[in-house]
Amino acid sequence: MRIRNKYRKPTALRCIAGSRCLMSNVVWSLVGLLVMLHLYTLLSHTNVQSRVARSSSISRNPLISELEEVEEENIQMPPPRRRSPRAAKRKPKKPTTLIDEFLDESSQIRHIFFPSMKTAVDPMNAVGNESLYYHPGQIWLDTEGNPIQAHGGGILYDGISRTYYWYGEYKDGPTYHAHKKGAARVDVIGVGCYSSKDLWTWKNEGIVLPAEENDETHDLHKSNVLERPKVIYNDKTANYVMWMHIDDANYTKASVGVAVSDSPTGPFDYLFSKRPHGFDSRDMSIFKDDDGVAYLIYSSDDNSELHIGPLNEEYLDVTHVMKRILIGQHREAPALFKHEGTYYMITSGCTGWAPNEALAHAAESIMGPWENMGNPCIGGNKIFRATTFFAQSTFVLPLSGLPGSFIFMADRWNPADLRDSRYVWLPLTVGGAADQPFDYSFGFPLWSRVSIYWHKRWRLPSRWSA
Ligand code: GAL
Repeated sequence: MRIRNKYRKPTALRCIAGSRCLMSNVVWSLVGLLVMLHLYTLLSHTNVQSRVARSSSISRNPLISELEEVEEENIQMPPPRRRSPRAAKRKPKKPTTLIDEFLDESSQIRHIFFPSMKTAVDPMNAVGNESLYYHPGQIWLDTEGNPIQAHGGGILYDGISRTYYWYGEYKDGPTYHAHKKGAARVDVIGVGCYSSKDLWTWKNEGIVLPAEENDETHDLHKSNVLERPKVIYNDKTANYVMWMHIDDANYTKASVGVAVSDSPTGPFDYLFSKRPHGFDSRDMSIFKDDDGVAYLIYSSDDNSELHIGPLNEEYLDVTHVMKRILIGQHREAPALFKHEGTYYMITSGCTGWAPNEALAHAAESIMGPWENMGNPCIGGNKIFRATTFFAQSTFVLPLSGLPGSFIFMADRWNPADLRDSRYVWLPLTVGGAADQPFDYSFGFPLWSRVSIYWHKRWRLPSRWSA
């Protein structure tokens, strides 16, 4: 039974008429919400400003200011080729673009994208002040004078031997098409490994995971596909663990493969392949976080989205945890890195061996949500920027001792002769305000800009040492 308290005083909020009470409740809730939003905005701005301030102090670091110089590139289109009047009548020629010229093996300006052996970078015979200079797109020789074969690769810094190891697809074989409509390919030869102390002079350590010559049922049979190998070190098991994209010639197997070794220079024992989390997996990478947890990231659902999930403690398998990210965005060639607690990633679009526009992404948690931050490429010219400098991301290497500075590693694929694909290494920095509003932050740019600077010729800061 309800007893009426006759001593209770009427208050302003007390409802005499129910609708008035409802109204004032709504008004007060709205005011509360607005105050909260305002506070959030202020906090976000302070956060952004402090990040930007921190980042611009990075940009002011004299060691890297040279790397952040904007270098323009002016490429003259060749004059149109002469065609017989009959040929012109049969098929009127579409206006050519720089991308058409890049893809045309007989283009008159091919030497710009694929300079000949004459200009090869040869660390063992570097004269004058050529030492330690990267020349993106030029042939790069190892210490024995052979072109480096480490495509779609990645780098491991081995704390034990204090050495960098560069692993990649060894593609020194003839390019052919398995089918009329199939992508250009080279039979699997294996994973090449090169070692270096200075990130410029690379010694060939041989093929650390070779193809299988005879057993046609083996994942590594030469008729299959082995792409984008990456190696990380497991501190608990003291093993070097390699993950790679394993496929058949038609790219229908869409799996990952795992191999392991107790030495960075192999030989690696091939363990198995699988479809991670039961999904198709093509371009992929692995990333080892500061806390020792490693992750697999792969293009899935016919390359329409990426999946990310932690590996088990031994790094030999995935766990049941997985998140779908960048859904419906059709991104591949993921290259992940971390700066000041934020995760960043560069991806490419899906156009096979042909180059396309890169995108940078950022996330507070590696499992997402991931934001798009637009095209990170700076300098060159418009077409250079729209094609990731005619290359495709493969790895981003942090430069120890230079926080916010990285080497962006990309492949300039040569589908006419894949073994002659080139390396495009460029400085990548994280700093300055991002220039694009984001999806999950009420439109506020919470993260710093990721910038990849074009340089025809560049070197790491002279006082930088591995
Ligand atoms: C690209 C991919 C490469 C390779 C190529 C084959 O999209 O990034 O790793 O698979 O397709 O056409």
